Amino acid sequence: MTTLLSVAGVSKRFRGLVAVDRVSLDVQQGEIFAVIGPNGAGKTTLFNMIAGAFANDEGSIVFDGQRIDGLKSDQICQRGIGRTFQIVKPFLGLNVEENVVVGALLRRHDMKSALARAHDVLRQLDLYDKRAQSASALTLPDRKRLEVARALATDPKLLLLDEVMAGLRPTETNRMVDIFRALNRDTGLTIVLIEHVMRAVMALASRVLVLHHGAQIAQGVPADVVRDPAVIKSYLGAEAVH
Ligand SMILES: Nc1ncnc2c1ncn2[C@@H]1O[C@H](COP(=O)(O)OP(=O)(O)O)[C@@H](O)[C@H]1O
Ligand SMILES: [Mg+2]
Repeated sequence: MTTLLSVAGVSKRFRGLVAVDRVSLDVQQGEIFAVIGPNGAGKTTLFNMIAGAFANDEGSIVFDGQRIDGLKSDQICQRGIGRTFQIVKPFLGLNVEENVVVGALLRRHDMKSALARAHDVLRQLDLYDKRAQSASALTLPDRKRLEVARALATDPKLLLLDEVMAGLRPTETNRMVDIFRALNRDTGLTIVLIEHVMRAVMALASRVLVLHHGAQIAQGVPADVVRDPAVIKSYLGAEAVH
């Protein structure tokens, strides 16, 4: 197995608050890895450091054999990490197709091939028939899938998904799970997902990291993690398990 992402002892402080406290994780090539934990646990901050939105205060991040901590978010995107945002950020003035073309132009410098890539991704995300609609007119499930499509169009080696199933109905969640499973199986895409929908975590992830107050309280295969007394006490017992 090849390690694609290696996060070692990474921390982030905001004034007095330790948002992420010496967290380590390794993600293998082709793996689906999940990060769970209560609101405020530091999950999004961890993503922000991996994706270069925030600099880490300590530790190191190695992606595809090279140190990436200290690089800017556009440089990290160029190296092959695509991410979605918990608060979806489509260009509302553009239509669905144009939003995805923007992602595709990262590695393609002519419109024809960018459009072809966008169409492939739109088909994978079940959005092809809605390509001419304005992004602002989409329903929440479609906006969530557009967010994934925009990230995927950049041809990432690693896709970071921040709560893309939050607020979805069970049938829409199942659709997302099927889409990620197919992407992982058919293209070998490596995925790290932050998710509260435990059904999706159990269905997709081969390993799970549990954060609480910024620190790891458990890490392992899903079946073991959900039985861990510390996880039940601080997370699963405290929040509704979907
Ligand atoms: N840009 C920021 N400035 C100050 N505090 C922040 C910032 N981003 C996150 N935090 C704080 O860091 C902690 C972890 O937040 P976050 O990573 O968003 O948690 P999660 O995604 O697990 O809900 C929270 O207490 C949050 O208020
Ligand atoms: Mg978050």
